[in-house]
Amino acid sequence: MNAQRKQIFAGNWKMYTTKTEAVNLTIGIAEGISKTEREIVLFPPSVYVTCVITACEGTPLKVGFQNMYYEREGAFTGELSPIMINDVGAHYVLLGHSERRHIFGETDDLIHKKVVAAIAHNITPMLCVGELLEEREAGKSESTVEMQIVKGFEGLSAEDARKVVIAYEPVWAIGTGKVATPQIAESMHAFIRKTVQKLYNDTVAQSIPILYGGSVKPDNIAGLYAMPDIDGVLVGGASLKVQSFLDIINVTL
Ligand code: 13P
Repeated sequence: MNAQRKQIFAGNWKMYTTKTEAVNLTIGIAEGISKTEREIVLFPPSVYVTCVITACEGTPLKVGFQNMYYEREGAFTGELSPIMINDVGAHYVLLGHSERRHIFGETDDLIHKKVVAAIAHNITPMLCVGELLEEREAGKSESTVEMQIVKGFEGLSAEDARKVVIAYEPVWAIGTGKVATPQIAESMHAFIRKTVQKLYNDTVAQSIPILYGGSVKPDNIAGLYAMPDIDGVLVGGASLKVQSFLDIINVTL
């Protein structure tokens, strides 16, 4: 962590929880936050977002959607627009999560259009990047992630680039229990920051929060969060239980 940057701890609930569980999880988290300087963001399944936003009233918790389409409205069955996200009062959107890229075939081009649309509607895009195991084994981690960053940020002004939050989630670490070591994660985060610096400048690179995601648990958070370029985490499985998520978001170094 580097206290100059915004610190963000996010929970991606993926396609889990019932409505009651979602609300109870939200209430439990709100009651247990002790580090108020950290931004806590919940990404429930879209159908529960409004209930979770209601449960967050009067708390510092922020809520986001796990995905979004880039058009304002239209004949796009099953999709949600940035206008709708604004309408219900959500602040963030996850874009380019590896499950969207690899299960649903989302391309860098599509993800880029979503990033642009989110910024145009004052929604903070959390742009997810990360390499597959075979890409890491082939020595292509950096080139893969660099391409995802370059395409994701394509054409954004420096002012707009500063509105993006990046989440580095190596695909081999997601849901596998195989967390990246703090050294591997830090080296990728530093590389991502350098990539942003080359695209823009040092001010932009130094201001963008870069979160780590992939098997983050209460017992490995401290080592990761101690790294200078890790500005928070994006948690999957361990964000579905009040106590384990609180143990992560309240970590003390
Ligand atoms: P896990 O924490 O379950 O590995 O999931 C990470 C993730 O994909 C968060 O977006």
